[in-house]
Amino acid sequence: MKLSPRHIAARLYDRLWLAPRGFGNPPPVEVWDRDFAAGRWAFLADVSESARYALIHNYAVRCASGPYSVLDVGSGTGVMRTFFADGDLEDYTGLDISKEAVRLSSEHGYPKSRFLVADFDAYTPDQPHNVIIFNETLTYAKDPGVTFRKYWAGLPQGGVCVVSICDYDARNRANWSRFENDHKPDFSSRLVNEKGQAWDIKAYIKRYRR
Ligand SMILES: C[S@@+](CC[C@H](N)C(=O)[O-])C[C@H]1O[C@@H](n2cnc3c(N)ncnc32)[C@H](O)[C@@H]1O
Repeated sequence: MKLSPRHIAARLYDRLWLAPRGFGNPPPVEVWDRDFAAGRWAFLADVSESARYALIHNYAVRCASGPYSVLDVGSGTGVMRTFFADGDLEDYTGLDISKEAVRLSSEHGYPKSRFLVADFDAYTPDQPHNVIIFNETLTYAKDPGVTFRKYWAGLPQGGVCVVSICDYDARNRANWSRFENDHKPDFSSRLVNEKGQAWDIKAYIKRYRR
């Protein structure tokens, strides 16, 4: 494929300016739909990935008070939902830009749950949620800092926001810098699986103000 000078300039701008500053590089929605339809993300339900979901669940239920109203931002096929007991939930909302991912998550018929097709950069929650989860999704936001702050603003006092970002490359590592100047995590863990894949998982609690 021959690239035009404009495309080359855009790539250089992305690699040399945006990536080191932690801005995202969101793939087109068609790519997500195609990949989910082809089962390319089915591995997320594998045991190799499960410790990450378990840790996120642990932070959610230990840092907020139940019953939990969960907002799973970029919920994929809904694997995160399987870690919550029905009885612990007030409700569970998953949102994802991919129609195919939402179709797959909806077909399980999980109680107290809904899955919506929505772009998390455009979506505004229609109710407060005391648990907000970004499980391997913030890296796909145009600006992870802007997206994090938008959802943080809607988090009620005493609620928790849990963020997981895979330590995949320098860009992913830089994603944290988009919001960590003004948001320090209350808890933070690094997880490495048997394949050497590493994730940083952090919990941000919204404190009561007097
Ligand atoms: C790596 S997958 C993680 C899925 C899920 N959080 C999990 O861990 O099981 C990233 C997900 O983010 C979704 N996504 C990417 N950009 C999005 C956006 N702008 N709005 C909503 N969802 C988005 C993708 O469709 C995909 O389902």
